[in-house]
Amino acid sequence: MVMKAFCCTLTSATQGADKFFSRNSRKYLKRFLNRGLAKEQRYLVEGILSSPIEGQTILEIGCGVGGLHMTLLKRGAISAIGIDIAEGMLNSARQLSRELGLEKNTTYIRGDFTQTREEIPVVDIVILDKVICCYEDVNQLLVTSLEKTRRIYALSFPKPTRLVKLSFLTLITLGKLLRWSFSPYWHDWNAVLQFIHGKHFKEIYSKDTFAWSVHVFAKESDS
Ligand SMILES: C[S@@+](CC[C@H](N)C(=O)[O-])C[C@H]1O[C@@H](n2cnc3c(N)ncnc32)[C@H](O)[C@@H]1O
Repeated sequence: MVMKAFCCTLTSATQGADKFFSRNSRKYLKRFLNRGLAKEQRYLVEGILSSPIEGQTILEIGCGVGGLHMTLLKRGAISAIGIDIAEGMLNSARQLSRELGLEKNTTYIRGDFTQTREEIPVVDIVILDKVICCYEDVNQLLVTSLEKTRRIYALSFPKPTRLVKLSFLTLITLGKLLRWSFSPYWHDWNAVLQFIHGKHFKEIYSKDTFAWSVHVFAKESDS
């Protein structure tokens, strides 16, 4: 798949995410090679496959090493664009796509999606797997990513239970105290779901793991 390569200037927060996730990208790749998709990713696949996948185009925002969209390519999707702030993640995704013979079906773009979105085409399926909790401006990320799908919008975020919230708030506090390059964000997850509904998307699938909540929506004109 041929697309112009481009990048954008990262802010100090996104530079922190780049540093953190690039450093951890080999672990993500090793985990996928040894254990395959994580449970919440298997749920995302299950939800997305509840409607036709043959010939569909995918945009995965915060794609990491790409195991999720590559699984969907193996199941019949035709092309995938993966965008991530972390160069290390994208290097691993490129390596994996070569190893799986999917190089011609994948395009990787480095950058903050909200800043690079104008160059990215509208696709059939948009995925954000454990990404919104890594980004501060949740509204901007939702508005700009919802615009990019013509059919399916699939996402996962931390399950809003007391225990998961406490773990996240502990990480956020430690991150501030110890001046980590990156720490996650806790958003109002019910408001996120309401926002998506308000943009005329209908939930077609939802399932939780212990720590993650998975939701798949279809655009109302499509369902
Ligand atoms: C927790 S990791 C999840 C990676 C992958 N989705 C997975 O589950 O294996 C979050 C990823 O989202 C990326 N990310 C966060 N905000 C982003 C944004 N606005 N644009 C592009 N990538 C973003 C980070 O760099 C990181 O690689």
